[in-house]
Order: sequence, then structure tokens, then C-alpha cells
Amino acid sequence: MKHFTSVQDVKNISDLVLEAQNIKKNPFLHQNLGKNKTLGLIFFNSSLRTRLSTQKAAQNLGMSVMVMNVGQDGWQLEFEEGAVMNGAAAEHAKDAIAVMGQYCDILGVRSFPELKNRDLDYSERVLNSFIKYANVPIVSLESATLHPLQSLADLITMEELKKTACPKVVLSWAAHPRALPQAVPNSFAQWVGAGNYELVITHPKDYELAKEFTKNAMIEHDQDKALAGADFVYAKNWSSYSDYGKIASQDPSWQITSEKMKLTNKAYFMHCLPVRRNVIVSDSVIDSPQSAVIRQAGNRVFSAQVVLKNLLENN
Ligand code: CP
Repeated sequence: MKHFTSVQDVKNISDLVLEAQNIKKNPFLHQNLGKNKTLGLIFFNSSLRTRLSTQKAAQNLGMSVMVMNVGQDGWQLEFEEGAVMNGAAAEHAKDAIAVMGQYCDILGVRSFPELKNRDLDYSERVLNSFIKYANVPIVSLESATLHPLQSLADLITMEELKKTACPKVVLSWAAHPRALPQAVPNSFAQWVGAGNYELVITHPKDYELAKEFTKNAMIEHDQDKALAGADFVYAKNWSSYSDYGKIASQDPSWQITSEKMKLTNKAYFMHCLPVRRNVIVSDSVIDSPQSAVIRQAGNRVFSAQVVLKNLLENN
């Protein structure tokens, strides 16, 4: 593994999940692997889980960690190639990123989409600038279009909880007051679609995700039909891909409630968090024994740790 930015950077997903599960059993086994190595965590956007879990993962491997909130603390960066920099941006990204690469052995970067220009967001300009200019391995801490560390933690969680060899996994859209990125559902569809799962995605019309991520999924616009017999229900809001970044529906009936969960095969409820309670999911579901959300967040440590371990071993 040279970088970790999507499922395509992983040779064998099952092996990686298994390795993460072994690390979970003995998290300090490789505590000297990262000795005298520095991880830089660069945030253009807010985070709780990604920031803390990746920091803990690095510490378990003996790494030092530096965190920078570029969006708040850093110089405003220019990403346009050849820009005449007489505006607000004080530094070009190619200079700033190359400098960060001088201080760190691995860099993690979080950068959300602006949800205004689909081509620009899907070109992953920020993430690809880090890959181009840092000269060290790059870990996506959630990019404009994907959230691979979350998806890996989701797979670890489902492998821990599954009761059948090929569980039915339902990714369900739910309404939200703000327009959110497609990164989590894109990534979840990509990782689950590559594994031994029956994946069904349910959403109102006009919320189709990019086909490149959903080719191994069945799309069902009737949420009740989709939920029937599910082993896992993963709720998430996303904004429209076709009418890019827009909210096409705020239908509250898509909320995951106890009544909806009765349609399933005693499914586990999943969400990447943060979640709007009683908007995306009712308290009765997220507080129930079938809720896997805290386990998922806990597994973020081991998804980050297995990735950092591989990058330290191979670079
Ligand atoms: N799930 C997740 O990535 O959470 P944060 O945005 O808090 O990091």
C-alpha cells in the first residue's frame, strides 16, 4: 500500500479486515514500528472520530502526531495551477503541502466537497494535490467523494456481528436539514459491493449515487421493501448527485424507526456519526441493543491502525 485513499489501494479487503481484527485483540504488539516517525493530520473540515481515532491508532504504533486545522489556523491556500496570487490566498498549496511532507512521514488529510461544482469536487483536487506534492504516503481522512477509513471500520463491525455468511445490508437515505456530501455512501457502496454481502440501496428518486460506486448494489426506491429481511441497516443522508449538492426531498418518513426495524431480520442499526437523532434515526433505535454505532466508532481506531501499520511497513 503506497497511499490509502480508496478501496482500490487495498490488495485484499478480507485480509485487511482480518489483520485489523488481530490488531484489536493486541493493539500494542507493534508499538515500536512507528518509533521516531511522525504522522501529520491536516483538517480542512471539522472532525471528532477521525481525528481522535487516527491519533490513538498512531500512538498505539509508537508514532508522534501533529494536528493542524488548516481551515482555522493555517494560511488560506490557493489550489489553482498558475494562479496570479493577488487575492485572499497567502500560500500556494503546492508549497504548503511540500513543506508538510518535510515534517511528516505520513500525512492524513480531511477535505470535504464544496457541493457547488460536481466536476471539481469529483476531481479530488485537494487530496490529489497532497498525493502530488507531499512526497510521503497520504491517508484520506474523508475526501470530497470517499471516506475509506470509515468504510473499513464498517466492514470490521459487520464481520464482528454478522450471523450469516452473506448478510443483507441495506444502505438507506434519510432526510436531513442540510446538504451533505456523498462521500460516506459512495465509499460504503464501494467497500460493501466488493465484499461478500447482498447490498441494497434505498432512497427517494433523484438521490441516485454515481454509478461507478453502486454497480454491485440493487437500487430499491420502496424503503419498506428494501428493509425486508435486512441483517444490517445503515442510515445516511446525502445530497443529490444529479442536481448536484441540492436537497431534493426532506420527507421525514424515511427516518429509521422501531416500526421500520420490525421489517428486518433483527438487523443491527449502523451510522457513521455524527447523527441527528429523531431526524435520521429515532432514539428508540439508536439507543437499542441492536445499535452498532458506538462499536463502529470504536473500530475506527483499528481501521486507522491497520492502514498506518501497512504504510509504515511498506514505505
Ligand atoms: N464518522 C466520522 O468521520 O466522524 P467525524 O466527522 O467526527 O470524524
